[in-house]
Amino acid sequence: MTPDLAVTLAGLRLANPVLAASGTFGAGREAAAFLDLKALGGVIVKSMTLTPWSGKPTPRMCETPSGMLNAIGIQNKGVEHFLAEDLPWLSAQDATVVASIAGNSVDEFVKVAHRIEAANTSLAAVELNISCPNLEDRNHIFAHSASATAEVVRSVKAVLRSKPVFAKLSPNVTSIPLIAESALEAGADGLSLINTVFGMAVDVSTRRPKLAGGMGGLSGPAIRPIAVRAVHEVHRLWPHVPIIGQGGVQTATDALELIMAGASAVAVGTANFVDPGACPKVAGGIRDYMAAGGVGDVAELVGCLKLEG
Ligand SMILES: Cc1cc2nc3c(=O)[nH]c(=O)nc-3n(C[C@H](O)[C@H](O)[C@H](O)COP(=O)(O)O)c2cc1C
Repeated sequence: MTPDLAVTLAGLRLANPVLAASGTFGAGREAAAFLDLKALGGVIVKSMTLTPWSGKPTPRMCETPSGMLNAIGIQNKGVEHFLAEDLPWLSAQDATVVASIAGNSVDEFVKVAHRIEAANTSLAAVELNISCPNLEDRNHIFAHSASATAEVVRSVKAVLRSKPVFAKLSPNVTSIPLIAESALEAGADGLSLINTVFGMAVDVSTRRPKLAGGMGGLSGPAIRPIAVRAVHEVHRLWPHVPIIGQGGVQTATDALELIMAGASAVAVGTANFVDPGACPKVAGGIRDYMAAGGVGDVAELVGCLKLEG
């Protein structure tokens, strides 16, 4: 039996369940030298804002045990650049493209969503990066508040009618299901779990934080158990909600952990910096696992975790 790797999440059809995670793949131009972009399940592009953002001061990345810290500050060239330059180029590569929207106010999210909807492109879906500070709420992160999460999702869904919308949640909360519930009630078609975990590292020779911004987001294998737990917690409450699992996926085994916990697809982030060809290798490993075990369809594995007996 030839395994079928195709998956469908809230109408988002992917040739295989492995996407490149936002912010770790740009818009795919650099990676295209190493792989065929259409062989990926999809490319979740760097988060975009209404106007270009220059990001935070450097240094803004550093290595940590089994991971890395970053505080890039969503450096990006803005939605107009994405629509005029990146999206046509990605479409010419036949890539499946997921846009990622960020903003410092609900209004900014809505304006970007409106531009995307008005452009009426072949874009496959939209992820909402709500791990950004809300300037209208004393810089509190949207995804740390059930009400702010709901407001962004509801407002975006009101204008972005033609694409599935995935709310990307933060692990830096006491209850991920609580935030997930408000995102779903507000109309999110699916969830992306998880964004990076707050962290900090100190250079003892200078007695300064290793990142210019002080704190940053931890990613890579160090956070995978947190991602698996988050996916499991949400999937057992809402088994029919499509989840893009992300956090520390380097190999097919890592991806299968998230899939068995309940993710219908996975995104690979930090591993792209180690090996730009990581995504197709992970997809190939999933295919091998399925072929060896006589699994015909990825859906058979989603949430197949055995908890008893
Ligand atoms: C350098 C870097 C930049 C990132 N930028 C974004 C971003 O712009 N938007 C976003 O939603 N997530 C961003 N992320 C988070 C990743 O998309 C991913 O959710 C997270 O890193 C966990 O996956 P990983 O452990 O495989 O990297 C970034 C991560 C890294 C390491």
